[in-house]
Amino acid sequence: MKNKYLLICMAFLCLNLSKTYAQKNDMFYGTIETEYAVRLKKLAPNDIKIISSLNGYSAVKLSDKAAEKLHHMVLTHGPGFIFEKSEAQALNTIRNHQARRQQKTASYSISEDQLVNQGIALVNNANIDTHIRELEAYGTRYHTTQKARQSVLDLKQKWETISSGRTDVSVKIVEHQSTSMPSVVMTIQGQDLPNEYVIIGGHIDSVSPERETNAPGADDNASGIATITEVARVLFQMNFKPKRTIEFMAYAAEEVGLRGSREIAEDYKNRNVNVLSYVQFDMTNYKGSQKDVYISDDSYNSTALNSFLASLMDHYNTSGDHKFTYDYTRCNYGCSDHYSWAQQGYPAAFPFEASFNGSNPYIHTTRDTSDRFPTANAIHAAKFAKLGLEYLIEVAKSKGSVTTPSYCTSKGNNVSDEYIQNVTIGSINNNSSAQTGYQDFTSQNTELKQNTSHTISITPKWTGRSYKEGYAVWIDLNQDSDFEDAGELVWSKAASTESPVSGSFSIPSTAKLGKTRMRVSMQYNKISSPCGSFNYGEVEDYSVTIAEGGGTDPDPDICAGVPQYNANQNYQTGDRVVYFNTLYERTSSGWRRIGTCGTTRTNSLDVVPTLVNNNEVILVSPNPLKGKVFSVQVQNELWKHKKVTIYNANGKLLHTISMKNNKQTIDITDFSSGIYFISLSNTSNTYTQQLIKE
Ligand code: BES
Ligand code: ZN
Repeated sequence: MKNKYLLICMAFLCLNLSKTYAQKNDMFYGTIETEYAVRLKKLAPNDIKIISSLNGYSAVKLSDKAAEKLHHMVLTHGPGFIFEKSEAQALNTIRNHQARRQQKTASYSISEDQLVNQGIALVNNANIDTHIRELEAYGTRYHTTQKARQSVLDLKQKWETISSGRTDVSVKIVEHQSTSMPSVVMTIQGQDLPNEYVIIGGHIDSVSPERETNAPGADDNASGIATITEVARVLFQMNFKPKRTIEFMAYAAEEVGLRGSREIAEDYKNRNVNVLSYVQFDMTNYKGSQKDVYISDDSYNSTALNSFLASLMDHYNTSGDHKFTYDYTRCNYGCSDHYSWAQQGYPAAFPFEASFNGSNPYIHTTRDTSDRFPTANAIHAAKFAKLGLEYLIEVAKSKGSVTTPSYCTSKGNNVSDEYIQNVTIGSINNNSSAQTGYQDFTSQNTELKQNTSHTISITPKWTGRSYKEGYAVWIDLNQDSDFEDAGELVWSKAASTESPVSGSFSIPSTAKLGKTRMRVSMQYNKISSPCGSFNYGEVEDYSVTIAEGGGTDPDPDICAGVPQYNANQNYQTGDRVVYFNTLYERTSSGWRRIGTCGTTRTNSLDVVPTLVNNNEVILVSPNPLKGKVFSVQVQNELWKHKKVTIYNANGKLLHTISMKNNKQTIDITDFSSGIYFISLSNTSNTYTQQLIKE
């Protein structure tokens, strides 16, 4: 049945393609797996010319006869080749296959449980059902017809209606070169990372032997468009504001060779749009197999994205109201628009309604209608809407949501002999009993001022004999989610039987202002390390908020009340400013250094001609980066006690460099092309430069 239908559809496809794009001698260009190209060459040497082969794929020129032979070789699956407009395009495709292999895998995480659970509970299958019927009612959406164009314009209107009132949403018609039918794209602008795109799409056109008048395309692909629309509707109902940009796409002319999606994906690639990943919805409402969702694992799809979709379903759909099952299947050819994205090197996936062989047998016929769906009320498609929401919310994430930093774990394995009974510092005075060897008290917080002495007191509890205990207290002073940086072990005490133990430390002026973590550890007979487990004792985590200090200092601070230097201001002789924790006074020839803030003394009285403008504190050359190294120069005193940090465009910390000199060379061989930021902070300012690696 499937074979027959595919053969018919194949013959139709070739007919159609050859009509539109016939080359001399009725040969046309394509890309196919090299294995098939070679076999075909043996079978019909005059009907195929292998132009070039790269990593298992070949750019070929082939005849209809060859195409038909190929279809038989590939058996149940589609044409077995991808139609290409020109030799150049065929060559480009095989090059892109290679590029995709080298593509870096995006990092996916599941963290938005609350929003996702809220969203999937709002999915309404009746909306999908109604929308499928509306699309079916055009009679045909074959790409050359007026009805097809109208269906796109109406969808634009529908998307505008569901997004009305949202100034961060736009809906646009995209006209094409290769078809008279337009596509439509809806964009929700990302709030924090607008240049990173997360896209879902499907084709809105349809086909059948009576394509001009009767091609209802209820499953292929009114179901996908209705599914995508319900995903969008739910996001708007939730008033979801994504961190990254989300797009919804309904394509023209998929059925005649992925034309709309191909033009759009090419355009995104040409404009260098950073599409993190793409998911296709094409045929979502015909439950023709045992399991519910079938992830297609064709070689051109992204394995990382596929396993992310699987983990989303493992996480959100294994029990309760939203339970459904999944498995894997394969088209074995570029069977839908996700292939257009994959071809441009973007990670793509295609979760499908059934196994390839179990899928809707009526597609591409006049019988692809909603009365033939085996399950009622679009309940099958609703599962795909849920998966779509899970995918969009977890990849785009919500506005302002940051991946919570994770500190290393640490604990005592046994608290039966001793544990921490009390920790007192600032406003924290916490009594606790023996639980496990680790307790999270980060909901308790105290303010600690910079340049001020603070006392911590820890009381051990011995259940029997008094053992010797070693103590350590760390504070993540630079807020980089570890306790490893210099000075972060703020206090420690060698093993003793003293009780309570106490000691003082001060928070340096270089510590980052704001809330951070303090770890208190008591270990039998030893001073602990910040990470890992040990036999006897306990670890407790707290929060501390580092605040600007000096308030309790009995000595007046020479900088008290003096404003920070502002590069945009014109200063007069006698004006005083604070610059890098140092007090300066304007003279007729420059700036006289009076002394270090936090002191009453005045040090050397040298004069510096200028204070560096903020945007010149860090000098980087060359920029854009070239070659293996670049040099970074810090134009003030900050290099002496600070680290230069390099982040990628997502804000991920990549490198921390301790400056040994005010100028240093940094190795960038491990940097891939893209935008980076190099930055340096003191307590009041962060100086950042953008780096571009070409
Ligand atoms: N929805 C189908 C693809 C499909 C059909 C996937 C059956 C899985 C099972 C899509 O609209 C389509 O018909 N695609 C064409 C390929 C394209 C390159 C013209 C096809 O499969 O023939
Ligand atoms: Zn389709």
